[in-house]
Amino acid sequence: MRAIALSDTSSAPRVLDIPTPVPGAGQVLVRVEASSLNGFDIAVAAGYLQGMMEHRYPVVLGKDFAGVVEANGEGAKKYSIGDRVFGVVMAPYLGEGGFGEYLIVSEQFGIAKVPEEVDIAIAGALGLAGAAAVASIDAVSPQAGQTILIIGATGGVGAIATQYAAATGAHVIATAKPGVETDFVRSQGAQIVVDPTGDLVAQVKAVSPSGVNAILHFAGEATALPALLMEGGKIASTLGFGPDKHPTAIAIMASADEATLNRLSADVASKQIRVPITHTYALAEVPEAIKAFPTGTLGKLAVKI
Ligand SMILES: NC(=O)c1ccc[n+]([C@@H]2O[C@H](COP(=O)([O-])OP(=O)(O)OC[C@H]3O[C@@H](n4cnc5c(N)ncnc54)[C@H](OP(=O)(O)O)[C@@H]3O)[C@@H](O)[C@H]2O)c1
Repeated sequence: MRAIALSDTSSAPRVLDIPTPVPGAGQVLVRVEASSLNGFDIAVAAGYLQGMMEHRYPVVLGKDFAGVVEANGEGAKKYSIGDRVFGVVMAPYLGEGGFGEYLIVSEQFGIAKVPEEVDIAIAGALGLAGAAAVASIDAVSPQAGQTILIIGATGGVGAIATQYAAATGAHVIATAKPGVETDFVRSQGAQIVVDPTGDLVAQVKAVSPSGVNAILHFAGEATALPALLMEGGKIASTLGFGPDKHPTAIAIMASADEATLNRLSADVASKQIRVPITHTYALAEVPEAIKAFPTGTLGKLAVKI
């Protein structure tokens, strides 16, 4: 099968022809149709996880996946051949990934069915960013009338979190540069936009002098942020800014359990949230997309397998 993979410790991601994986006991073989780029993939491609996670070469990149169940391994019976499924590759080592024509995953964790109403391309861009967004929102539980500041609202996690926050009736202040980024975050539900290239603290204090009830930290430096919180406020961070750094901070680790995936796909099916795919790459274009990802990404960058 064709996959975007690393062949060894020193290689860059490229299209490789590798053996189609065979599902083991309790595993499902998925014919992947869609995926998307996440910061984690960029980190793997850059070699940042060397020494932190076992690499089983060839290492296929891609955390997200959506496709169709092609076969079941021994004892696996949760899904039937032909079921449309999506999720996040959660194996404790690097090896299988969503940027390949086939993928084996455990049937127990990181996989769920795609509801009829949800397009497979949308499901392929939903898993990791959606799971991080709901975990962050749940950690600070914004209430109607409260004010929430979202740093990195222009990204995949930030856009989905902005939609969830706006749906609670909270006032959303989002970071975005003037122009298309500002239009984008407003389209996701942000009411007030602050420019992250300027003095963020001063801009937020100007629009919300008594501070904000909650902060979602998805980008940039967090050390100045606690000064913006009202009494009792919380910061949820996907970047590891946790209680060791400040007592108000909660470090988020996205969990792509079946219940979370079902909640996300149901919210897409009911149109409570939209997955803001701004560009779709062909599989062979992924190495270029990985180079482009760190600068100027808006929403989700999808991959069509
Ligand atoms: N802990 C977890 O479980 C977990 C799960 C998912 C994601 N994450 C992490 O969470 C972060 C967000 O994920 P993502 O997929 O949304 O990434 P993303 O798509 O790259 O989004 C980050 C966004 O923030 C913007 N940005 C960069 N620096 C900024 C700054 N100083 N202030 C305000 N905005 C800034 C970026 O704009 P430019 O592109 O213009 O720089 C980009 O639009 C990533 O670091 C990712 O690795 C963690």
